[in-house]
Amino acid sequence: MHLLSQRVVEIENMEESKVHVFKSSSELLEKLHEKWNSVERLPYPAMYSSVYGGIVLDPAMMVIPIDDHMVHRGHGVFDTAIILDGYLYELDGHLDRFLISASRAKITSPFPKSTLSAILIQLTAASNCKKGTLRYWLSAGPGDFLLSPSGCPTSAFYAIVIDEEFSQCKEGVKVITSTIPMKVPLFATSKNVNYLPNVLSKLEAEEKGAFASIWVDEEGYVAEGPNVNVGFVTHENELILPFFDKILSGCTAKRLLELAPKLVENGRLKSVKTANITVEKAKGAAEMMYIGSTLPVLPIIEWDGKAIGDGKVGDLTMALSDLVWEDMVAGPETHRLKVPYV
Ligand SMILES: Cc1ncc(COP(=O)(O)O)c(C=O)c1O
Repeated sequence: MHLLSQRVVEIENMEESKVHVFKSSSELLEKLHEKWNSVERLPYPAMYSSVYGGIVLDPAMMVIPIDDHMVHRGHGVFDTAIILDGYLYELDGHLDRFLISASRAKITSPFPKSTLSAILIQLTAASNCKKGTLRYWLSAGPGDFLLSPSGCPTSAFYAIVIDEEFSQCKEGVKVITSTIPMKVPLFATSKNVNYLPNVLSKLEAEEKGAFASIWVDEEGYVAEGPNVNVGFVTHENELILPFFDKILSGCTAKRLLELAPKLVENGRLKSVKTANITVEKAKGAAEMMYIGSTLPVLPIIEWDGKAIGDGKVGDLTMALSDLVWEDMVAGPETHRLKVPYV
């Protein structure tokens, strides 16, 4: 095509795809409210932003600045705690891990742990949500678009309540070994926002008809799933979880390790430990499970097309799941924080 006529076509197309320029923020807000008003159930009842300096209940305003270093450089960390029957489960442990992740990312929190906790509790109370998840982020903060965060004067803290249904998992799932390279320990052991490998690993599993995947490290030891830990029960009734030195130290997995000795006391398990587990040994286990905040224990019945044990949901896996679920709904208040709803 002649250059001049190409330009004419481009200009004609530009007319067709003319971009609207909002004349005022109230015009934009009206449009956003139209969108949110058409939604049957609001998924996000409340958000906190240190940039705003408070809690917002209007979903149209639940936004973060585009010049935030977390948005354009991935310089941020996050964590989650679940809200169940009006209690926050294991908030303290999640906050400890959150601050460890922040310090590895060289992000100084704008608030001490006690203030972060107070904000999260007030946010949950303001949301009136009794069942869902509480997600929160620490970021190097807004400033400019450069690689160094030196132009971002203050770090930022954001949090959101997500109203969502979840229940104790009882059905077994199939998994595959991930071909997506695993994160190196520095990044895998902290919960930073760079979850592209995790997303691709989950997508790979879904494309192959599996629920999720399993990472195996370069030495051939089982690591973790894309957003879950993994555990095994051997034919000798030992519960084994991989060491946490190259993977995320899961709050649910750590709590499971504290609770599981009850099954040793009543003779159902022989022992409970963390150890290196080769893929070969893992695939030959009697039972296998994913472990994570909203599951809390999900039975795995097949790995790379091969049955785990007898290919059915394991009794010990379900006994471990019951232990954690009980702890979530009726455990000691040292692990469950009652939300002061108004
Ligand atoms: C990579 C990864 N491993 C394990 C877990 C499980 O951790 P938790 O039990 O704290 O949810 C998560 C979820 O946070 C994760 O993202």
